[in-house]
Amino acid sequence: MKLSTIATHPIVVGISGASGSGIANGVISALLQMEVPVIATASSAARMVWQQEMDFSFGEALENWQDSGNFTYYPPADIQAPIASGTFPTHGMVIVPCSMSTVAAIAHGFSDNLIRRAADVCIKERRPLTIVPRETPLSAIHLENMAKLARLGVTVLPPEPPFYLKPRSLDDVIDFIVEKTLASLGVIETLPDKMQYQGPPR
Ligand SMILES: Cc1cc2nc3c(=O)[nH]c(=O)nc-3n(C[C@H](O)[C@H](O)[C@H](O)COP(=O)(O)O)c2cc1C
Repeated sequence: MKLSTIATHPIVVGISGASGSGIANGVISALLQMEVPVIATASSAARMVWQQEMDFSFGEALENWQDSGNFTYYPPADIQAPIASGTFPTHGMVIVPCSMSTVAAIAHGFSDNLIRRAADVCIKERRPLTIVPRETPLSAIHLENMAKLARLGVTVLPPEPPFYLKPRSLDDVIDFIVEKTLASLGVIETLPDKMQYQGPPR
């Protein structure tokens, strides 16, 4: 796996209240392991979902990430945080997982919490923004909001399993989504070999 040259500016990670807390954990842990600085914020709904889906608390996760020395956390109500301003340099942002509520807010310019404001900043400053939206089935409202974001240059990366790679576990699927997310942000240039489609067995 080849690293790109971005590592100087932090990547903002917004965690909203859709299912998929494990993917958020995977993305942040992978970035920190690669020594990419991370600035994170999580909605109150995200913390509720985390409590239901994860074997360790969000507080414990924050402590682990903080141990890296490269991690900063701001509460979602802190709209004075540096990432609320376009003058603060970041490489870009991922919202993982991204709820339909957060998708709708961003698509309509509502910056009523730090996740939404930081995403608005990325769009206006033309910085990379990836969302990992999770909902099923999707209504026309959801699809229209995501289409609007896609047309603005946002990468819409649903956490779809790579069936063709025959994942054996949820962890395999999460690892794949994490790598696709890192690639979408330009943190890595190529996926690890085992995650690349090699064509049909010969
Ligand atoms: C356990 C649980 C799972 C949820 N899963 C989803 C989901 O997959 N997608 C979604 O859009 N909303 C989901 N929600 C609803 C959102 O959390 C809710 O709309 C919330 O207001 C989103 O707020 P936020 O965007 O500020 O995080 C879920 C809620 C709970 C409690």
